[in-house]
Amino acid sequence: MRAAAFSELIGPDGVRIIEQPTPEPGPNEAIVDVGACSINRHDLWILEGDSAMVDTDALPFVSGLDVAGVVETVGGEVDTVAPGDRVVLCPNETCGRCRFCRDGPENRCEEFSMFHGGLAETARVDASRLISLPDAVDTTTAAALPTAYLTAQHMLRQAEVGAGDLVFIPGVTGGVGVASVQLADLVGARTVGTSSSGEKLDQLQALGLDHAVEATDPDEIKSAVEAIGTPDVVINHLGGDYTGVGLELLRRGGRMAVCGRTADSHSEIDIPDLFLGHKRVIGSTMGTQPELQRLVDLVATGDLSPEIEATYSLEETGAAFAAMQDRTAVGKLIVEP
Ligand SMILES: NC(=O)c1ccc[n+]([C@@H]2O[C@H](COP(=O)([O-])OP(=O)(O)OC[C@H]3O[C@@H](n4cnc5c(N)ncnc54)[C@H](OP(=O)(O)O)[C@@H]3O)[C@@H](O)[C@H]2O)c1
Ligand SMILES: [Zn+2]
Repeated sequence: MRAAAFSELIGPDGVRIIEQPTPEPGPNEAIVDVGACSINRHDLWILEGDSAMVDTDALPFVSGLDVAGVVETVGGEVDTVAPGDRVVLCPNETCGRCRFCRDGPENRCEEFSMFHGGLAETARVDASRLISLPDAVDTTTAAALPTAYLTAQHMLRQAEVGAGDLVFIPGVTGGVGVASVQLADLVGARTVGTSSSGEKLDQLQALGLDHAVEATDPDEIKSAVEAIGTPDVVINHLGGDYTGVGLELLRRGGRMAVCGRTADSHSEIDIPDLFLGHKRVIGSTMGTQPELQRLVDLVATGDLSPEIEATYSLEETGAAFAAMQDRTAVGKLIVEP
């Protein structure tokens, strides 16, 4: 079987198609014929040699977390899915033993890691992590959900977003950004988001963004958002200067959920403003498998329609990463092996 592997960690030019032996399932595993695998900034970090989570000493490395497709074969102990089932993978890998695996939420597992290997024709996965897809949810749409939408959903819940809240999302046009707008809209919250591109913001407004701010300079963003309102919640996947701006803008008792560091891994924050303002900063990674199940259900009922910018063949995987690196996309980029 073929895979789009990272053969050199030099960005999109480092992707090569390689031939690998077709995997065999272990007793609790399934082999999935990958119909679609969406890419995330997480994969691009690895491809650029800048991953905080993945050991890439052994190249080539096959990345890709967000697998959807059809079960080909299953191991002897598997009774939750069968060959022919259409499925999406929850990419969480957990120990099953620690206090968070026992008491929840599972994404806090002390040994938390994530599946990699979806950018290939077939993937060998933990069968208990597969969610069956209803007829109304196609494979490409399902592949958009696991990382971006699951992370956004968990952050919005951690930050207790409710009807009427104003949610501030710096960098609103990517996977997590668009997902946050759509999912905040579903609970009746209002959103304000930023981008360097007015054109991309126009697309976001069609997807439900209430207020668009075309700016990247923190001071410019601050005064533009102040003119709109006082955020109750900030969804922060950029880090860097955006953390300080977000906290300054937050109302007293407001919440900031943080899942990323695209702009910078370090941020300066005003400590007195934090404690005098009773503000909360919440670190958050991925979400739980039941939350992903709920997202699949929302797609099935027509309440959620994940935004997909483009689909690519396996051979075009490098081009998909180039689109992410060039910041041309709105929403998800999906490889269809
Ligand atoms: N902890 C977790 O579980 C988790 C899960 C998912 C994602 N993440 C993290 O969240 C972040 C977003 O992931 P994603 O997959 O949604 O990425 P993405 O699709 O590439 O995000 C694109 C967005 O980021 C903005 N952006 C890109 N580079 C920027 C820069 N240098 N300065 C300011 N803004 C910039 C873009 O702004 P423009 O509109 O101006 O182009 C766009 O709005 C990443 O850091 C990722 O690692 C973490
Ligand atoms: Zn655990």
